[in-house]
Amino acid sequence: MKPLLSTFPLLLVVSICCTLTRGQSPAPAPAPAGPTNVTAILEKAGQFGTFIRLLQNTKVADQINMQLNSSKQGVTLFAPTDSSFSDLKAGTLNSFTDEQKVELMQFHVLPSVFSTSQFQTASNPISTQAGGSQGSYPLNVTVSGNQVNITTGVTNATVAGTVYTDSQLAVYQVDHVLLPLSFFVTPSPAPSPSTHRKAPDSPSGSDADATPDSSGANVISTKMVACGILFLAAFA
Ligand SMILES: *[C@@H]1O[C@H](CO)[C@@H](O)[C@H](O)[C@H]1NC(C)=O
Ligand SMILES: *[C@@H]1O[C@H](CO)[C@@H](O)[C@H](O)[C@H]1NC(C)=O
Ligand SMILES: *[C@@H]1O[C@H](CO)[C@@H](O)[C@H](O)[C@H]1NC(C)=O
Ligand SMILES: *[C@@H]1O[C@H](CO)[C@@H](O)[C@H](O)[C@H]1NC(C)=O
Ligand SMILES: *[C@@H]1O[C@H](CO)[C@@H](O)[C@H](O)[C@H]1NC(C)=O
Repeated sequence: MKPLLSTFPLLLVVSICCTLTRGQSPAPAPAPAGPTNVTAILEKAGQFGTFIRLLQNTKVADQINMQLNSSKQGVTLFAPTDSSFSDLKAGTLNSFTDEQKVELMQFHVLPSVFSTSQFQTASNPISTQAGGSQGSYPLNVTVSGNQVNITTGVTNATVAGTVYTDSQLAVYQVDHVLLPLSFFVTPSPAPSPSTHRKAPDSPSGSDADATPDSSGANVISTKMVACGILFLAAFA
């Protein structure tokens, strides 16, 4: 009698623990096949046709895909919808040179991945792919509540939604095309001959460094501790 009574809770605990740990294994989301393709993500979302075309024509889409494949910092993309492009004053895009179109696209790319809450602690101006945080391409992000606003000095925009996020890439829909200030201010004729230095292409966006995601491990170890306690309790 006695042995039977004491093995019964043991078997119960063992079977619970086995179920828990086995249930754990399929949790990670299936990795997408191959490297991330930002164009494909935007296409799938719809309503970004103009942005996609510009990203492709300027080859900035290729740059982003290469960065996603090689950089640990990841990429954040502000994606204006087709209707945002139609809201631009007529002729705006055509007034830009090819070089400016490249810069315009790069201005919508941040060289690290930002979650909405990371915007809260980011220091303005934020570095974009168009140039360091200093100088002619400032981009400021302000957060209040769950609203994320962006200002460039020319454009005020709001993040209207999240199109895509993973550990490497965040794509946010914005309600206006982000126009860089430098496209609209004529450079002052002040004599400043040698102060212009090209910013290094890898700015120190280090406070956006992703911390390694250990939440899965935490869940498992929590369950193991719980099992251990159950196990002890069964013999108490
Ligand atoms: C990315 O996706 C686009 C659209 O689906 C496709 O045209 C392009 O070839 C893809 N690029 C790569 C490198 O797979
Ligand atoms: C991604 O990077 C790996 C090695 O880092 C390379 O072998 C592969 O060709 C790259 N893929 C693309 C699409 O650039
Ligand atoms: C963001 O912009 C909206 C209007 O576009 C404004 O009402 C709101 O106060 C702004 N929020 C912040 C935090 O600047
Ligand atoms: C962006 O933020 C910086 C630092 O707070 C500030 O000096 C600058 O005026 C801001 N620019 C715009 C366009 O809001
Ligand atoms: C952007 O917002 C600032 C402050 O909220 C305002 O002074 C400025 O006029 C706005 N600019 C545009 C283009 O709406």
